[in-house]
Amino acid sequence: MEAITVVTLQEMKQHGEKIAMLSVYDHPTARIADAEGIEVLLVGDSVATALLGHENPLPMTMDGMIHHVAAVARGTEKALVVADMPFLSYQISPEEAAENAGRFVQEAGAAAVKLEGGSPSIPAIEAILNCGIPVMGHLGLTPQSIHQFGGYKVQGRGKSADFLLEEAKKLEGAGIFALVLECMSSEAAQRITEELSIPTIGIGAGPHCDGQVLVGLDLLGIDPEFSPKFVKKYANLHETISSAFRKYKEEIRSGEFPSPSESYE
Ligand code: KIV
Repeated sequence: MEAITVVTLQEMKQHGEKIAMLSVYDHPTARIADAEGIEVLLVGDSVATALLGHENPLPMTMDGMIHHVAAVARGTEKALVVADMPFLSYQISPEEAAENAGRFVQEAGAAAVKLEGGSPSIPAIEAILNCGIPVMGHLGLTPQSIHQFGGYKVQGRGKSADFLLEEAKKLEGAGIFALVLECMSSEAAQRITEELSIPTIGIGAGPHCDGQVLVGLDLLGIDPEFSPKFVKKYANLHETISSAFRKYKEEIRSGEFPSPSESYE
């Protein structure tokens, strides 16, 4: 089984093959996604909101992220494991950025890192690349700057599309291997995708990107109250889990569980 690398993703763009990326946080889910041939497993800082009950990703720390990246890497044989650099792990200085990216590779088994932002992130990107670690960029609605955006708003409408395109080109020039485009008009994402030679991976950025990413728990339908327009629910895990737990409780009450087949002689 041939492992997916940054070179594979570049070749996929050249051949017009769409890239599937999933944001996952744990070992069993990583094993399933890897076995199903998802090319990129991102361990996103969305773990804060999707799994850990925070309001935004800002509370995630390096140690917290390493815990999840290591679990995912242990469950992955083929996919490219990308560690999301948490808030303040790369913004303070390029040296700290390189050191933290190195921890993801050395301690957790990641093959690449992702970080948010345009021009201001370039010194960090360069320092990380100098250590031989591939970097994925992230433009559009970047959740670590949520307080600056003043909420989850669609980016790249009107004139701001030109700015995003310029920033995307600068990131490509700095050496990133792929670029996440989040919550952006389809038109802006299409322009960026056509103008860059590296792959773009969209989330709420329309159909023209070279690949797509969703949070695994969102597409599985774990939270019935979380239904943004860009999330397609491929399962109703909330109902599956609820009914299993309900039945478990009922069977304990009724004495149906444990039966002789679940008991030792
Ligand atoms: O944190 C995350 O999971 C992400 C993706 C949704 C792109 O950044």
